[in-house]
Amino acid sequence: MSRTVTDATPWYEDMSPGSGGLAPRSWYAASDAPRVSLNGDWAFRLSPDADAEDASFAQPGFDASAWRAVEVPGHWVLQGAGGAPAYTNVVYPFPVDPPRVPSENPTGDHLRTFTLPAGLPEGGESVLRFDGVESCARVWLNGQELGDFKGSRLPHEFAVGDLLRAGENVLALRVHAWSSGSYLEDQDQWWLPGIFRDVTLLHRPQGAPRDFFVHAGYDHRDGCGTLRVECDGAEGRVLLPELGIDAPAGEPVTLPVEPWTAETPRLYDAELVTPGERIPLRIGFRTVVVEDGVIKVNGRRLLFRGVNRHEFHPETGRAVDARTMRRDLVLMKQHNINAVRTSHYPPHPAFLDLCDELGLWVIDECDLETHGFVDLEWRNNPVDDERWTPALLDRAERMVERDKNHASVIIWSLGNECGSGRGLTAMAAWIRGRDPERLLHYEGDLSCEDVDLYSRMYPTHAEVELIGRRAEEPWADAELDARRRAMPFIMCEYAHAMGNGPGGLSEYQRLFERYERCQGGFVWEWIDHGFAHPEHVFAYGGDFGEELHDGNFVCDGLLFPDRTPSPGLVEYKKVIEPVRIGPGSSAGAFTVTNGYDFTGLGHLDFVWSHEVEGVLVDSGALAVPELAPGASAEVVPDAAGDGLWTVRAVLAEDTVWAGRGHVVAWGQAEVGAPAAPAPATGARPVRGEGVIALGPGVFDAATGAPVRLGDVAVEGLRLDVWRAPTDNDNGAPWQPDERYGLRWRELGLHRMRHRLDAVEAAEDALTVRTRVAPAGWDLGLRTTYRWTAAGDRLGLTVSVVPEGDWRVPLPRLGIRFGLPAAFGGARWFGGGPGEAYPDTRAAAMLGLWERDVDALQTPYVRPQENGARADVRWAELTDGSGAGLRAEGGAPFWFTARRWTSEQLDAAEHLPDQVAGEHVWVNLDHAVQGIGSQSCGPGVLPEHRLDAAPAEFSFVFSALG
Ligand code: GAL
Repeated sequence: MSRTVTDATPWYEDMSPGSGGLAPRSWYAASDAPRVSLNGDWAFRLSPDADAEDASFAQPGFDASAWRAVEVPGHWVLQGAGGAPAYTNVVYPFPVDPPRVPSENPTGDHLRTFTLPAGLPEGGESVLRFDGVESCARVWLNGQELGDFKGSRLPHEFAVGDLLRAGENVLALRVHAWSSGSYLEDQDQWWLPGIFRDVTLLHRPQGAPRDFFVHAGYDHRDGCGTLRVECDGAEGRVLLPELGIDAPAGEPVTLPVEPWTAETPRLYDAELVTPGERIPLRIGFRTVVVEDGVIKVNGRRLLFRGVNRHEFHPETGRAVDARTMRRDLVLMKQHNINAVRTSHYPPHPAFLDLCDELGLWVIDECDLETHGFVDLEWRNNPVDDERWTPALLDRAERMVERDKNHASVIIWSLGNECGSGRGLTAMAAWIRGRDPERLLHYEGDLSCEDVDLYSRMYPTHAEVELIGRRAEEPWADAELDARRRAMPFIMCEYAHAMGNGPGGLSEYQRLFERYERCQGGFVWEWIDHGFAHPEHVFAYGGDFGEELHDGNFVCDGLLFPDRTPSPGLVEYKKVIEPVRIGPGSSAGAFTVTNGYDFTGLGHLDFVWSHEVEGVLVDSGALAVPELAPGASAEVVPDAAGDGLWTVRAVLAEDTVWAGRGHVVAWGQAEVGAPAAPAPATGARPVRGEGVIALGPGVFDAATGAPVRLGDVAVEGLRLDVWRAPTDNDNGAPWQPDERYGLRWRELGLHRMRHRLDAVEAAEDALTVRTRVAPAGWDLGLRTTYRWTAAGDRLGLTVSVVPEGDWRVPLPRLGIRFGLPAAFGGARWFGGGPGEAYPDTRAAAMLGLWERDVDALQTPYVRPQENGARADVRWAELTDGSGAGLRAEGGAPFWFTARRWTSEQLDAAEHLPDQVAGEHVWVNLDHAVQGIGSQSCGPGVLPEHRLDAAPAEFSFVFSALG
């Protein structure tokens, strides 16, 4: 097909938001007006550029029998229909020349027919609605062009009444991967073209409203709600039978109500009745304000225990089905999360219905990000170029009009990472005018000129503390500074959950609880965006051959791509638990604090249990008095004794998101000192043929290394300092903290040499002196192993003295050894059941745990250090018959076991690269380096650093079985 290159800007490259569509209005799931879903199989043809084909396909009678089918909602790149997903974080994957896009512009022509259902009411209008199409579309019905639109995650409607036919109708869409809109949609995620949300034909009967706006405030002083429903384009009445309301639309009605909060998502069923349509409403009464420098809902300060949620499914991308949406929210509720930022675009509209129902505070964010301009020093940034302002306003309007009737939405966000500019100011002004009853958020402009909240991403703990004291660095303009300093503070993003981590959550939480101004934050992010992949299990950036990409930075969620909770989510649940249970003022007593913002503890049962060495002695119910939010009480179980005491707060009744008995919060206290291992000294080393025997141990006489313990072969036992760097160890280039993962490798901590200086068999011990150091540097660790024995017990004391100028912390400090692969069963007394590191250990519960070695691994999408268990008193590795090895710590230690070495783990890029070998490799660590959040945020806090310093630690080994 020949093409003429002209100067005329094609519609997909002009800056306008679109043409031919209807003004935006509220979305609602159902009414008595008929509607037809046009989801399902559509005929599909892919072209390599925007005008490779003419538009004749849109004409009725076009023969598309040679086309393939794609499913709508869906992305064609995920359906084997040509092209592939592509991931970039900040950088635009095309030359930046706004609003122009590349000639290589994959274009998907979509076609389907449909028949109108019988019995549609006479008269009225019909509307075609597209809930989400990336990145733009031109639309035809029965050969007639309706118009075009941009704004991928926003709804677009067209009036089609006079074009509909009684028989077969032909709907055609031409979708381009790239458009001027792509410049406004540079979010950190996969680029995924397609019709990825619902397509619906909605009948609009005569006398149906054009739109409506529910206002439902709550006055905490008198307990009254005021309901007013504006109805546009029709006469209407509002019926709310439970409260006896039957009032004309537009008229306020005030009466006592139960308020809506995320903790108590009380919704009243109501109806908007107009001559042409009855629309069900779910009303939640609540009022959100900033007062005295804090955000208050219904008169009370609240604390966001939030998460950033992108829409993602490992098979269908941003086409997320209703079950998955609900699953996300149920998982959030089960993990004590009370808030969602819809990063970085309005979600599928049904998601907000679920937030209303299940109870989540929502920051609804506009579909706007121009981050790729940052590397150009924001030259030509669309948000500061008035030619783009109509497109920005269109986006703001589409979001607000669509989502304005949700109780859960309390904050509008202008977008993400767009720098600053007049376009944002225009959006803010429009939103304020249209909906003064909600707050405004935008993080990217530190002056906070246009917004109600001071919001930041990834500040350090130290900075949050300053902000909490309203003592942050002043802003240059005194007036703006004063205004900002008076604002509430939230972190719209913090705690980067990439790979192992995030670390440091507890320390942030303490700041939120200490400073009224700090109203919590939103962990980045909810789910890893890894695509199910036949070879890699989960694919990330670069796995589809992208020319530019940002690797596994797209896998930074609290859920793995298949929605299994990662240890980060388990940790977050514990850190934000709404009830604090801790040791009380005397042995055996507990303090219980109500950390909810609104409710008492009446919905919870409290249960105590008493264990000795992991064996349950007794358990019972614990009476906790009614406590108002913030109040504490000391309680004592009606039993006593040494050992481990655990108190759990569990749901007293079934809820929609978890059953009765679901654990909301817990705390532990140990009464009496834990038993120390019996000493293992007294036996003397005995030299044999090439070996030295000591108690149950047999050592290589030349190297001093143990070769057997009882009947168990032991391989390569020695000091180990290496771990496969985590994403957080490796850090991000823009972070000020030193990137230890890179430094460790430069220093060669992954290839330490072990020089043998002496093997000394003395009266009561076998002593092996070594120096452990990397090639090329004068740093080293003088390491002495002192072996002793008594009966069937073998003792080891390791002394480590650093030499040289160690400026970096050590990844770990402990011993490592291999056991035959058969010893794949682990049992330990200590923290569990999941992994923990010094700054991710809040959720490690003391107890007796048992797991296969395979189940000790955490499947980070990009393999890295994982699986340590904290605070371990003893650990055992056994084969099927119960034979094996037991290690007791002179002090609590960190226990890790895996079927590959740290070096092999380090070399793995994807999960299947980890291959089980002939050993189970065991690390018993005296100490390990913390995790931090430096893959995007701050590094490890000083108190969780493992600085190189003289250390001594010991274990007692015995053979089992
Ligand atoms: C933020 C951004 C997010 C994401 C995150 C890092 O700067 O807003 O979209 O990129 O960093 O994963």
